Amino acid sequence: MKISVIGCGYLGAVHAACMAELGHEVIGVDVDQSKIDALTAAHAPFFEPGLPELLASANASGRLRFTTDIAEVSDADVHFIAVGTPQKKGEYAADLTYVNAAVTALLPHLRDGALVVGKSTVPVGTAARLAELVASAPVSASLAWNPEFLREGFAVKDTLGPDRLVYGVPAGEAGERATAILDEIYEVALSRETPRIITDYATAELVKVSANAFLATKISFINAMAEIAEATGADVTQLADAIGHDNRIGRRFLNSGLGFGGGCLPKDIRAFRARGEELGLGASLAFLGEVDAINLRRRDRMVEITREALGGDVRGKRIAVLGLAFKPDSDDVRDSPSLDVAMRLRAEGATVVATDPEAVETSRRQHPELDYVATAQEAATGADAVLVLTEWKQFRDLMPADLEVAAGRVILDGRNCLDRDRWRAAGWLYRSLGRP
Ligand code: UGA
Repeated sequence: MKISVIGCGYLGAVHAACMAELGHEVIGVDVDQSKIDALTAAHAPFFEPGLPELLASANASGRLRFTTDIAEVSDADVHFIAVGTPQKKGEYAADLTYVNAAVTALLPHLRDGALVVGKSTVPVGTAARLAELVASAPVSASLAWNPEFLREGFAVKDTLGPDRLVYGVPAGEAGERATAILDEIYEVALSRETPRIITDYATAELVKVSANAFLATKISFINAMAEIAEATGADVTQLADAIGHDNRIGRRFLNSGLGFGGGCLPKDIRAFRARGEELGLGASLAFLGEVDAINLRRRDRMVEITREALGGDVRGKRIAVLGLAFKPDSDDVRDSPSLDVAMRLRAEGATVVATDPEAVETSRRQHPELDYVATAQEAATGADAVLVLTEWKQFRDLMPADLEVAAGRVILDGRNCLDRDRWRAAGWLYRSLGRP
């Protein structure tokens, strides 16, 4: 199939490369020339395992190219909308400027019978409105909503082998046609019996936001238990293991610690709440306000235990921060709990020396004022306390002997990812969130 992908950020760049890998002819479009130049040279503009290799092979196959000129999409049969829907400045709602602009820009270039497929995460009701816009095109075209569930760090794997496919399509013949087109695009996944759920627009939009709301709720649930555990001397990781053995609960997404960040979960639960308010259904989603609040309190608590471990005040203290990305195997620092904690400690007068295997450059762009180094050892040199805030494997594997260069013997585990006994046996003060 001839496919265009509008928006070559995280979602779009991965989707474009994967569609080419599946044998489709793909053109990726973005307004950012530097991103297009990088992708054309098979450089991923962000860290994502497997993506550079995929870009290189897809570019070489001749099936994938990138442009800033939307007019070049005019011979595509299918157009995926993969632009961002960030949080509006000063509000909880999603900013739909880019989605609206992408569909509007596409209209004059649609060929007869084209299918526009929304992938971006949008508030429920958006697709119905965009369908009217698509219907106003000079040719006959239709819209489907096909949400994406990829995780950063596993984006290629999740796109090539999704755990489910959801098609939000219009009723009647247009819906059948859209379904047939999407089936052809996802033929490889469908041949592996990937579940496929066909819905209306509203359900497809809600599947996406409710999945992220559920995941955020699961994380905040265990972090609320961590607060109780801290006050009562219980151990939240054992608690998670024990309740996780119940299949109805499940152990995944019950890792307590600094909580969730990134470009999706925080803004999606806020946008969902805002949409609930608009619909006069604020009460139904009010709990997401608590989910957000529990999550943000973990950052306060991390700063608090750092103060406590350093005698009540971090002023003038040297603190090593290991991990800046919002999660391991990513260089993404959007709404990163780790970077936030690092900045707060600095604001309280500590000298913070931070490192991350991939996220130093992305952090530096956001906060050039922080001190960055390349390795855990450099960060720890002369430090009064070492904080592990993102659970990269290289940090989980650290041995006390690796950090002998530290001035103090204080290690604070923001992700419950270290072997507590190992550090205590070596004479370190070990503290974590939710464990005695
Ligand atoms: C999330 C969803 O997992 C994807 O399914 C979804 O497609 C994506 O958002 C999106 O909407 O685009 P992602 O943001 O890549 O994916 O990251 P997650 O793996 O979900 O982790 C989110 C945050 O939760 C991270 O900061 C992570 O450290 C934290 N987390 C995760 C916990 O604190 N505890 C856990 O047990 C799991």
